[in-house]
Amino acid sequence: MREKNPETHEEKLEYLRDLRDAAINSASAEAVEKHHAKGKLTARERIEKLLDPGSFEELDTFVRHRTHDFEMSKRRPWGDAVVTGHGTIEGRKVFVFSQDFTVFGGSLGEVMAEKMCKVMDLAAKVGAPVIGLNDSGGARIQEGVVSLGAYGDVFARNVASSGVIPQISVIMGPCAGGAVYSPAMTDFIFMVKETSHMFITGPEVIKTVTGEEVEFEELGGAMTHNSKSGVAHFAAEDEETCLEDVRYLMSFLPLNNMEQPPHSPSGDDPEREDEELDTFVPDDPNKPYDMRTVVAKVVDDEEFFEVHEHFAKNIICGFSRLDGHPVGIVGNQPAFKAGVLDIESSEKAARFVRTCDAFNIPIITFTDVPGFMPGTDQEWNGIIRHGAKLLYAYTEATVPKLTVVTRKAYGGAYDVMASKHMLADFNFAWPTAEIAVMGAEGAVNIIYRNDIAKSPTPDERRQTLIADYKAHFANPYAAAERGYIDDVIEPRQTRPKLIRALRTLQTKRVAQPRRKHGNIPL
Ligand code: HXC
Repeated sequence: MREKNPETHEEKLEYLRDLRDAAINSASAEAVEKHHAKGKLTARERIEKLLDPGSFEELDTFVRHRTHDFEMSKRRPWGDAVVTGHGTIEGRKVFVFSQDFTVFGGSLGEVMAEKMCKVMDLAAKVGAPVIGLNDSGGARIQEGVVSLGAYGDVFARNVASSGVIPQISVIMGPCAGGAVYSPAMTDFIFMVKETSHMFITGPEVIKTVTGEEVEFEELGGAMTHNSKSGVAHFAAEDEETCLEDVRYLMSFLPLNNMEQPPHSPSGDDPEREDEELDTFVPDDPNKPYDMRTVVAKVVDDEEFFEVHEHFAKNIICGFSRLDGHPVGIVGNQPAFKAGVLDIESSEKAARFVRTCDAFNIPIITFTDVPGFMPGTDQEWNGIIRHGAKLLYAYTEATVPKLTVVTRKAYGGAYDVMASKHMLADFNFAWPTAEIAVMGAEGAVNIIYRNDIAKSPTPDERRQTLIADYKAHFANPYAAAERGYIDDVIEPRQTRPKLIRALRTLQTKRVAQPRRKHGNIPL
């Protein structure tokens, strides 16, 4: 870069161009090469892939750190360790920060946080999502407590914007210590297999403190957080796929909580019926089937973008469209643990329901649930308070709520899964629905124990009682008789029924009580 002060207009222009060039190429070729060798894109390459071509408007290119300790003053790269700005995805405005691991390991200090906070504030002001591309060694060690305070400033903005604008975190490298809590407070976390890691304490510290030996990937890699901890919602094979997925997710979300989600007209006929649904649920109530197939047959163009695909597989959550309008789908999954509700599935679905509600996305629930998971493990780990999260989330949600009971809706789980009592708007049941306190075998064994014991032919007697119970309770008509089910429908009609119900609910309004906020059991 030029050394002497520019004087003429031409020199000043030249100087600006040199400066910008220096900022854009602040990382050494060696550092970039090392980065690429790990299968990682640079901060700027990621932005290019995420946004519409040529739409990125960079901010704070000339920001530099002010730290004088630890020889830091000798290295003051333009832009510091983050690239920030705004651009578009499919023509819709988004704000972005992209941490640059090639500069001080992407570590976060005072000015880096100032840059991030500036885009977060702008995004909140204009009502547009923030997408954070995270790749950082955490708090900048040389800046000490200042960097901890700087993280705090980011956290406070995450909380202030929660439920106001979508916040999406993409983990594309290390994300360690308290730094994980900014992504943790955002709406969605994407991770990349093998190259992204999240943990509070790394393998070294764990070994020192507990003696446990574990590698980075097993401790906090993409699949660990997608399948075990539930911290992350999406796992991608590589960075490019991951950024494509982020763009896709955006197609379901509004820019802010005052907007409706984007309408994408579909060629799929709203009146389309699917005959295969009529016989899709097996006659044997204990035989599994894949609820994702039901979803695919009902929604536009079989499109279903699953959220938390690898976590708590006994419930499915994800985005689809009906008549071109984004909807959030929640469904019990009979193909995994019989679709039972347990701690993890309750938490997963509760979080999803609240996310949909915050961003005006109607919720469609497909119910086939045998009940809550019994056992000491569940009880001692708090199924009562975790199950309550889902009950609370469904009840609190004011977006249009539609429910289709395909088969079992037993016990408390019937109430929880967006029943009429939990303020769902339209509840439909298929003729295969069984809505009761519990299944026939269990019920007969409890209420007719003495009767069966006294019978000279107990097995026969039990079978007769089970058949009687099924005739009385294992169907949708007792619920329909009371209006708990608005209509028993032919399964093939599910799509047109749901679309008509959604159209009716487009003007739904719910009066809210005056209060600071509810107290959801956490
Ligand atoms: C300053 C850092 C840094 C940090 C890395 N670097 N982390 N500089 N502060 N936190 C620098 C390195 O000195 C190095 O600089 C460059 O970044 C690349 O780092 P390497 O170690 O060479 O890279 P790699 O081998 O890939 O290892 C990456 C890493 C490791 C696993 C992230 O650097 C690491 O363990 N860093 C410390 C992580 C950590 O414990 N952070 C604090 C977490 S606590 P040169 O100049 O040599 O290229 C936290 C609290 C947040 O963040 C609190 C919020 C309330």
